[in-house]
This record gives sequence, structure tokens and C-alpha cells, in this order.
Amino acid sequence: MALIILGHPDFDKSIANKTIVEELQHSHLNIEVRHLQKHYPDYKIDAEAEQKTLLRHKTIVFQYPLYWYNMPAILKHWFDIVFEYQFAFGSKGDKLKGKNFIPSFTIGGPESDYKTLGEHHFRVHEFCKNLEQTAYFSQMNYIDPFYFHETSLTAGYTKEEVSQKARNEAKRLITLLDRLK
Ligand SMILES: Cc1cc2nc3c(=O)[nH]c(=O)nc-3n(C[C@H](O)[C@H](O)[C@H](O)COP(=O)(O)O)c2cc1C
Repeated sequence: MALIILGHPDFDKSIANKTIVEELQHSHLNIEVRHLQKHYPDYKIDAEAEQKTLLRHKTIVFQYPLYWYNMPAILKHWFDIVFEYQFAFGSKGDKLKGKNFIPSFTIGGPESDYKTLGEHHFRVHEFCKNLEQTAYFSQMNYIDPFYFHETSLTAGYTKEEVSQKARNEAKRLITLLDRLK
């Protein structure tokens, strides 16, 4: 059983993230998906409801498209509201201790642009330090992120190419989730 926190503000138009989520839902695994934009179109996130959901799971996957080298605002807002003092950190804030923290995101541009001399300069893992430290500060087990490149249809990649890559990614994720059961 795993929880997917889906942070995609435009999910109806999604190919990459939608394919991953559908593959997970159609797998043999018992998956619960929290589609944040659907639950909270007004961004008024219910901390207690989200915390109760987290408590039911050992493994949490954060699924999102990379926006400006980061997570979309709704997911960041979810962290700000849900990972509260005395829940995620503080003297009694050990409620997430030992749970698995798995970032899983999709990247519009090619890997060759994420190099020192490339358009985006920094390597992808350099944009993930905040995720890693958030996991440690919450006493969670950080698992190296799942991601793949070339998902931007506007850059000319086709829907078929993107969905094929997303299906492969979902397979890798399912293998891991199976191991963590
Ligand atoms: C607001 C916005 C910001 C984006 N920022 C980045 C970025 O920083 N780097 C990148 O490679 N792609 C970026 N992209 C492209 C998205 O990562 C890409 O569209 C997404 O991974 C596709 O997933 P989807 O099919 O599930 O929507 C951005 C897209 C949008 C709409």
C-alpha cells in the first residue's frame, strides 16, 4: 500500500504524470492517490485530513511535473500546511518517522541541458537538495528521486514518446513499491 501525493495543477492536459498515475492505479498494488488540485482548487488545504491520510501509509510518493526547477505551487503549499510543528518536526513531531519519502517527477527538457554548460546549468540532483533535507528533518527515509526527461510537448516530443517513457518509469516505481511493501 502506498500513497501518491499528486501535485499537478493542470492534470487534464497531462501526459507524463497522468500515465504514471494510471499505471500505478492499474497495477496489482494497493495505491491511494491524493489529487491535490482536485481536492483543493481554492488551495485551502485541510491539514488534519492530510495528516490522517499520511498516518495510514508507510510509503509516500510525491508525483509532479518539474516547474521552474521545483515542485508546483500547490504541492509546496501542501508541504507548508501539512508538515507542521509537532507533526513533522519539533519535540513531539515524529509522526512521519521511518516512512519512505519518494520524489517522482517529470522534466520537460533533455538531460543534456542539465549540465554545467547546458541551458539549465545544474544537474537534476542539485535541484533536489531541499527535498532530501525535508525528508531528513521529518525523520523520513529519503529515496533517490525517480524522474525522466523530454516530456514537453511544446518542445516537439510526441505524446507516444512521452507516454512510453512514463510507462517505463511506472514499471520501475512499481518494482520499488513492491519491495517496500
Ligand atoms: C509553469 C511551468 C514551468 C516549467 N518549468 C520547467 C523547468 O523548470 N524545467 C523543465 O525541464 N521543464 C519545465 N516545464 C515543463 C514541464 O516539466 C513538463 O511540461 C511536464 O513535465 C510534463 O508533464 P505532464 O505531461 O504530466 O504535464 C515547465 C512547465 C510549466 C507549465
